[in-house]
Amino acid sequence: MSDSPWWASRFAALAAIDPAFAGALDRHAEAQVDLLEQLLDLRPGEAVVDVGCGGGRHSILLHERGYNLTGVDISSEVLDVARSRWRARHAEDEGPGFLEGDMRELPVAGPFAAAILMDESLGVFDDDADHLRTLSGIADVVRPGGRLVIELFNPYFWSHRHTTQHLPPGSLAAGVDVVRTYRFDPIRGRVEDRAVVFDGTGRRELPTQSLRCWTPPEVLTLASASGFSAVEIFGSDGWKVPARPVRLDARTSAFMWVVATL
Ligand SMILES: C[S@@+](CC[C@H](N)C(=O)[O-])C[C@H]1O[C@@H](n2cnc3c(N)ncnc32)[C@H](O)[C@@H]1O
Repeated sequence: MSDSPWWASRFAALAAIDPAFAGALDRHAEAQVDLLEQLLDLRPGEAVVDVGCGGGRHSILLHERGYNLTGVDISSEVLDVARSRWRARHAEDEGPGFLEGDMRELPVAGPFAAAILMDESLGVFDDDADHLRTLSGIADVVRPGGRLVIELFNPYFWSHRHTTQHLPPGSLAAGVDVVRTYRFDPIRGRVEDRAVVFDGTGRRELPTQSLRCWTPPEVLTLASASGFSAVEIFGSDGWKVPARPVRLDARTSAFMWVVATL
């Protein structure tokens, strides 16, 4: 791991431009949480840890649905975004706990009924030993029988998508444009993504994101090495979140939804 990894600055830079993003808790996040509820099979009030929680989209929506959420993220800037998003919706009520910490050494004891890693929060490290350490640490704080859901890139899909695209209309505030360029590195099994933001102040390039992209057999190995079993892998149709778990398709599923039990 380098002294100054890209993920230490990329998400702080994203938090700084948070007002540029319209509707972070929008129908896409709601649909993800609908699917999470089916996959996690929680009882009301149960505790869930959201690892790499970012601006808290899933923590906030799950907490609002009656679960007891703790979000962990390494970036104090994105945690500030998460807290202010909660305050904007609930002036008085206490929200999820948003804690600063590295996912390899979770600052929580549990036990949690479930853990989630959403929107490619798993995959940032250069060395897979760090991903294994992350999942093993999660296994230490999830109760026996508890579930883990991880949303990951599907490498079969991304392996032939060297694309440049604008973020979809409606996801950004007026006057802002974000152009992302994706390329797949087949040797390292990683998706690299450049993002350039255009707004009233000019053009800004964010630190390039480089995410490990495991094939399903590699996911099974990683999950079982960290103590999880009964692993199932579902897909999504492009970027659209399915209403029910659907079969992973090599060509059309942009994302994989991994469900495992401790
Ligand atoms: C792509 S964002 C996803 C955020 C959130 N899960 C969501 O779906 O909106 C990945 C998040 O992982 C966090 N992260 C990256 N490396 C981390 C680490 N070592 N420990 C904890 N969080 C980390 C980043 O700060 C960022 O907020």
